[in-house]
Amino acid sequence: MPPMDAPPGGAPARDLLGRRLHDLRISVTDRCNFRCVYCMPAEIFGADFAFVPRAELLSYEESARLVRIFVPLGVEKVRITGGEPLVRRDLPDFVAMLSAIPGVRDLTLTTNGAALRRLAGPLADAGLRRITVSLDSLDPEVFARMNGIGFPVSRVLEGIDAAREAGLAPVKVNTVVRRGLNDASVLPLARWAREAGLTVRFIEYMDVGQANGWRLDDVVPASEIVDTIGREFPLEPVAPAYRGEVADRWRYVDGGGEIGVIASVTEPFCGDCSRARVSAVGELYTCLFGTHGHDLRSLLRGGATDDEIRASIVEVWRGRADRYSEIRSDETEGLPRVEMFAIGG
Ligand code: GTP
Ligand code: 5AD
Ligand code: SF4
Ligand code: SF4
Repeated sequence: MPPMDAPPGGAPARDLLGRRLHDLRISVTDRCNFRCVYCMPAEIFGADFAFVPRAELLSYEESARLVRIFVPLGVEKVRITGGEPLVRRDLPDFVAMLSAIPGVRDLTLTTNGAALRRLAGPLADAGLRRITVSLDSLDPEVFARMNGIGFPVSRVLEGIDAAREAGLAPVKVNTVVRRGLNDASVLPLARWAREAGLTVRFIEYMDVGQANGWRLDDVVPASEIVDTIGREFPLEPVAPAYRGEVADRWRYVDGGGEIGVIASVTEPFCGDCSRARVSAVGELYTCLFGTHGHDLRSLLRGGATDDEIRASIVEVWRGRADRYSEIRSDETEGLPRVEMFAIGG
């Protein structure tokens, strides 16, 4: 029998559908300073909402230990997420820990950009190479409405500038498109990104969690987004940069760069899904739409060895059959689902 933890050179763990484990997304907090309408609607997540108490969060040392445990299983790409990761104190210290781990070839982070003006430099100095910033509109009113706290778009744009000045490259922009809210922002964002030399990825609004009141009618299909942009700036498809890439890439025919669309609702990409997620309290999720996580914190805090924790992860991965986006239906609608801010998207 091959060893459970698949040593370097051995076959990496595969799940029940033959998928490898390649990406790890690790959340450092469930807190966020925004209240995006599609993620943490302000009516539900008010001032009295109880976030996870500090002692329940994994420490940076615990999270970094997990990353070291995951690497021999095939993980090469690590993304730090939240909530909003930049609200956690001393985040650059965590980045420094992760950037020192051999085998982590791609280390990145998803942020709402609010604190980026201050933190882009320290994050880059700590070893972060690239970054993804969420930005749903350039229109100040639309942006303020979508982030739920009236946060000014100008500050996020300054954050993006700071990230570029700090040498984080590429800076990618993620835009969730929700019908009736920011569909008119798609073209201006594409125009702006072309001129700025940035790649925007437009994300179909998803039924993650249970708080956002998702309806299929609110989804703007990726094909419509490509048509809207392509009418003004002709586009052609580009082959994926790597197997299992989430975004479909499209390039401007005139050489003006590219866009991406993430069509998780209309063209699900579960077939190649190689992503594991660890929540801020140390639960392992094998799907963004998971109903429950597997408790790794108890193992970390209960004296388990690295090999024991790795074996436990392998067991979960080997039993994985998730393909939520492909089987989304009336029947899956009623299932409990983890909220996006708990596992970071
Ligand atoms: P790059 O490595 O920069 O290409 O990014 P990525 O492919 O890891 O994508 P990113 O983390 O920026 O994901 C963008 C968005 O796509 C996320 O915030 C989610 O909304 C969605 N997404 C990412 N991974 C998955 C997934 O496994 N399933 C589903 N349904 N959606 C996903
Ligand atoms: N549908 C699609 N994307 C979402 N995100 C958060 N909630 C949703 C949703 N319901 C995205 C954010 C950010 C990332 C963390 O996840 O815009 O880019
Ligand atoms: Fe916060 Fe990101 Fe959720 Fe918006 S999408 S509320 S920025 S965690
Ligand atoms: Fe992976 Fe689940 Fe997303 Fe499908 S729905 S791509 S299995 S995270």
